[in-house]
Amino acid sequence: MFPPFLLTTIAFGLFTASFSSASPDPTPFQISVPAESIDLLHQKLALTTFPDELVDVDRDYGVPLEDLKRLVSCWKDTFDWRAQEAALNAELPQYTVDIDVDGFDTLNVHFVHQRSSEPNAIPLLFVHGWPGSFLEVRKVLPLLTEGSPSFHVVALSLPGFGFSEAPRRKGFGLPQFAEVGNKLMVALGYDKYVTQGGDWGSLITRSMGFLYGNDSHVVASHTNFPQGIQPDGDEQPYTDIEEARLARTEWYETEGMGYYSEQSTQPQTLGYALADSPAGLLAWIYEKLINWTDNYPWEDDEVLTWVSIYYFSRAGPAASTRVYYEFEKNVDFKKMLYGTRLDVPTGLSHFPKEIRASPDAWYDVLYNVVFSSQHDHGGHFAAHENPQVLVNDVKRMFGTDGPLADVLVQLKTESMHN
Ligand SMILES: *[C@@H]1O[C@H](CO)[C@@H](O)[C@H](O)[C@H]1NC(C)=O
Ligand SMILES: *[C@@H]1O[C@H](CO)[C@@H](O)[C@H](O)[C@H]1NC(C)=O
Repeated sequence: MFPPFLLTTIAFGLFTASFSSASPDPTPFQISVPAESIDLLHQKLALTTFPDELVDVDRDYGVPLEDLKRLVSCWKDTFDWRAQEAALNAELPQYTVDIDVDGFDTLNVHFVHQRSSEPNAIPLLFVHGWPGSFLEVRKVLPLLTEGSPSFHVVALSLPGFGFSEAPRRKGFGLPQFAEVGNKLMVALGYDKYVTQGGDWGSLITRSMGFLYGNDSHVVASHTNFPQGIQPDGDEQPYTDIEEARLARTEWYETEGMGYYSEQSTQPQTLGYALADSPAGLLAWIYEKLINWTDNYPWEDDEVLTWVSIYYFSRAGPAASTRVYYEFEKNVDFKKMLYGTRLDVPTGLSHFPKEIRASPDAWYDVLYNVVFSSQHDHGGHFAAHENPQVLVNDVKRMFGTDGPLADVLVQLKTESMHN
């Protein structure tokens, strides 16, 4: 489960941060949605045409009409975006910075950056996925930046999500998202760092491991959405937990991938509905918030804040779907991600309502697994649904009793002598 590994070549001074003079300085950022956009949202919500619905279907055919009507009227009448915006601005230190992407445009990228009060804290890049956003770092931020070990946390809005610009050309796939993540960390003076990701964040941080791993930038990685493939000579029977993971994957693949097919084949067509109809966007995302969590008690304001980040996003919500298309079209890179073992030491956290999961041995095919933790409750949005549990795993992995202790102790001693 915890194979030994050596990381003798990591350069010292990992935990020092100096702002690189070559990159343009980050600009402080506050969310400030124009009043006209909020007015337009209210007008559109007031004009919503709802579909009919079959009787006695519960959630079998998708989001229930009653739920959507309640959320739409709340969004229109009682939800206070300005209060949510002010709370986000107060809690999350945000910035933007221009990043040149090789072969693509320069993109203005939005991110949260909070340093720990511990100068030798570990730099950590947090990467969200779909239908998530930088918002997912909100609950883990105060937990990660305090205590021991503690982290200097950076959480970006992926290009096309939240308040980052979207790519303007086709072909902007996982290697480009990975490039943005690495260039952001280097621009902030974090030449060596660790990563944490779920959903696309898991595949993007995995891509970063291949492109910027070994002793170059990415020192270690943690994910709550690990990818597995069946090894040759796979040993059975599986444990009950492993059987449950496969059953959940079967459910996802047969009942839960409609969104994936459209977003990975003709995302532009879907984009008209998402961009024009806040009720349509809400239903599209709300379905996943419910079906990918473990009886999490979503509050209406919480759902609406989450979806408002998409509605008010810089590029509009259509841009967030294209990552699926680019991922499926870049066949060689996908094959590499699912066919090559990554050397970067990786920690895995397993939550039972994750949408796709494997028996433990399947992960060893693709990762250098140094930490693994199974939980009996929780789902896909671990940082939001189980923030303390996720942070406990990350702290165990990077703590003094964890599998990376030798590397960390050596580095801390060294940086104290600098
Ligand atoms: C890391 O090392 C492996 C194996 O030596 C190599 O194939 C890979 O290209 C290296 N990656 C980086 C980013 O240096
Ligand atoms: C989505 O979640 C709800 C509530 O847990 C459930 O009733 C419904 O069957 C789920 N949908 C699918 C396709 O599994």
